Amino acid sequence: MKRISKYFLLLGTLMCLSGFSAKQNRQMNSSPSSNDSIEAKIDSLLSIMTLEEKAGQMNQYNGFWEVTGPAPQGGDAALKYEHLRNGRVGSMLTVRGIDQVRAVQELVVNESRLGIPLIIGFDVIHGYKTLAPIPLAEAASWDLEAIRRSAEVGAAEAAASGINWTFAPMVDVSRDARWGRVMEGGGEDPYLGSKIAAARVKGFQGDDLSDPLTIAATAKHFAGYGFAEAGREYNKADIGNSTLYNIVLPPFKAAEEAGVRTFMTGFNTLDEIPVTGNEFLLRDILKGNWNFDGFVISDYASIEEMVTHGFVKDEKAAAKKAVEAGVDMDMEAYSYVNEIVGLVEEGKLDEKHVDDAVRRILRVKYELGLMDDPYKYLDAQREKEVVGNPAHHEAVLDMAKKSIVLLKNEGNLLPLKKQGQKIALIGDLADDKNSPLGSWRIASDDNTAVSVLEGMQKYKGNKLTFEQGAPLVVGRETFINELKFNTTDKSGFPTAVQAAKNADVVVMVLGEHGFQSGEGRSRTDLDLPGVQQELLEEVYAANKNVVLVLNNGRPLAIDWAAENIPAIVEAWQLGTQTGNAVAQVLYGDYNPSGKLPMTFPRNSGQTPIYYNQQNTGRPVDPQPGDEMVFWSHYMDVENTPLYPFGYGLSYTTFKYDNLKLTKNQYDMGEDVQVSVDVTNTGNYAGKEVVQLYIRDLYGSTVRPVKELKGFELVDLQKGEKRTVNFTLSEDELGFYNNQGEFVVEPGEFEIFVGGNSMETLKTSFMLGEE
Ligand code: NOJ
Repeated sequence: MKRISKYFLLLGTLMCLSGFSAKQNRQMNSSPSSNDSIEAKIDSLLSIMTLEEKAGQMNQYNGFWEVTGPAPQGGDAALKYEHLRNGRVGSMLTVRGIDQVRAVQELVVNESRLGIPLIIGFDVIHGYKTLAPIPLAEAASWDLEAIRRSAEVGAAEAAASGINWTFAPMVDVSRDARWGRVMEGGGEDPYLGSKIAAARVKGFQGDDLSDPLTIAATAKHFAGYGFAEAGREYNKADIGNSTLYNIVLPPFKAAEEAGVRTFMTGFNTLDEIPVTGNEFLLRDILKGNWNFDGFVISDYASIEEMVTHGFVKDEKAAAKKAVEAGVDMDMEAYSYVNEIVGLVEEGKLDEKHVDDAVRRILRVKYELGLMDDPYKYLDAQREKEVVGNPAHHEAVLDMAKKSIVLLKNEGNLLPLKKQGQKIALIGDLADDKNSPLGSWRIASDDNTAVSVLEGMQKYKGNKLTFEQGAPLVVGRETFINELKFNTTDKSGFPTAVQAAKNADVVVMVLGEHGFQSGEGRSRTDLDLPGVQQELLEEVYAANKNVVLVLNNGRPLAIDWAAENIPAIVEAWQLGTQTGNAVAQVLYGDYNPSGKLPMTFPRNSGQTPIYYNQQNTGRPVDPQPGDEMVFWSHYMDVENTPLYPFGYGLSYTTFKYDNLKLTKNQYDMGEDVQVSVDVTNTGNYAGKEVVQLYIRDLYGSTVRPVKELKGFELVDLQKGEKRTVNFTLSEDELGFYNNQGEFVVEPGEFEIFVGGNSMETLKTSFMLGEE
């Protein structure tokens, strides 16, 4: 091994002396490269690149066919073509399909001086053409292997379409359901979020980045974007150090440890500094403390937006700030391609930063195998076979079923009987084949989801009727334009109510359209939007046997429904196989096991609401008859959520008992062993997510009242009992202090184990000596 790397080092020097280029490199060596040889090749290449070519590697343009953000002024297609030919572009995004990719790759490889291939990026967020559930829904499965597999499927289809790199996973923790992008993340919890981050990175990247069915992943948006003030998109984030280190950063660190090859910054400021120009985050933490050796990309035009933020005076200053802070590639702002050369030549920017950025970008290109063969991802036969493969439909159906959360099932209204029932299916979303595809689905064809109506029609033993009730939305259904709720048209109400009267059971599919969460889709009101609440109440007045199936990309405030409607199923936007998944759950062919990854509030004003809160100094509920007002509360709604984090029912029931520790006093550094018995006490086989929470009762900074530190998905037959074991090491018992140091402090800890964050058994132990 060592001899090979020396050989390449020598070769590198020779190449350098003889004017080596990427084109020649491909002719001389087409085998995958080892790490040492990659570094040597990069040295050679860097030594012959002009400053303009280096800046080119750091420049990413959006493709010519679709956009995922506003084009900055001055961008035009002719200029992009010219830059592609001149080696002034290192990457493109939103170019897809092998024909499009080949078109741009050939321009660069054949016409630019060095022929360094492009790396092609794309938002493969919850699948490519075959769509999986939105990421928040997947998080509700708590099934890490299913989540890994889902990412693997998306990666395979994207890679077969010529894509090398996804801008996913989004690992932003968020506690604010008003923020539209909660649909794209893993929910409110850093522990669950970290596990999911790692699973998704592994799914996208596999074990070998040069495998033609894997793609590089991106941990985004580094960092704090999920804390947009008031849930308003792109807003500032103001969080203290404790929240930064303990809540926001852990999923990014988990992604880094799982080997993620790129990071993306965000649009937000953090403590008044745009994260795209944030040296502390990018240089000190990511590239310093964490030793990250992949590359960092800005968000879409976020370098230029630092001018609008009021952080720098012009584009040139923005480019300088971003490079110095550690942003290696500029997404569609034109700032690097316009400014880097001048900045270096004028002595305002040290070229060593440019070299470091280019090295990182080239490193990932080598790892993907692009430098050896720019066309390795462009195989027409493979594209045909892989994209939309039936096995992928099976995988996303499996993921969709696992993502469904049963919120209420009074009187066992569910599962539905399969024979002899008159069922009225009501709601615009019930026969919608577009909305279930979710927000990020650029590569998927419109109207290709299995609708709930289609899914239910497969069960032929019942008489099924469908009524729309009222249109949900007005406006064009696309990723880039605003879609408004229908607030006036109720003309379909009477026929819907009549259908309900004639039915044994009513299934209503209500909620948000898939394009009403996601980027740019913040809401202040989390109720059922439009006229749906009125429809629900009128239908319920006609027939009380209502099953409410929710479609939404964020927690909703459905307090009336929770109080009145006997059965509620949280079905999010579940992707291509939505209708089949929903029908199989409603009819009991699949027993739901999902658990909420975000707290559901009682009303919108409770937001942000989350389980791992801290006690105030006055947290205690008053006793009956006590009129004292001086405690931490609202006058108009209780403090508890409607449905807590980790909550979800099953068609069966589970009993928890025998929560045990091996001791009640542990030494510092010693592992804490916890066990609990879980028994399936109901009438169906079922899965349960057994959750373990800790509370560090007092600390040098105030600790949350509960923190998830372990979970296990157990599959139990009717009557079966299982002992579930957890081990808590210092990793779980410690926390970050406000200086960013990880500390484990002696003292008393409480342990909670149960089926959600509020209903748990409890025990405690001492760690070390105080
Ligand atoms: C902006 C989004 O914030 C980011 O997440 C996405 O990857 C880019 N646009 C590219 O579409």
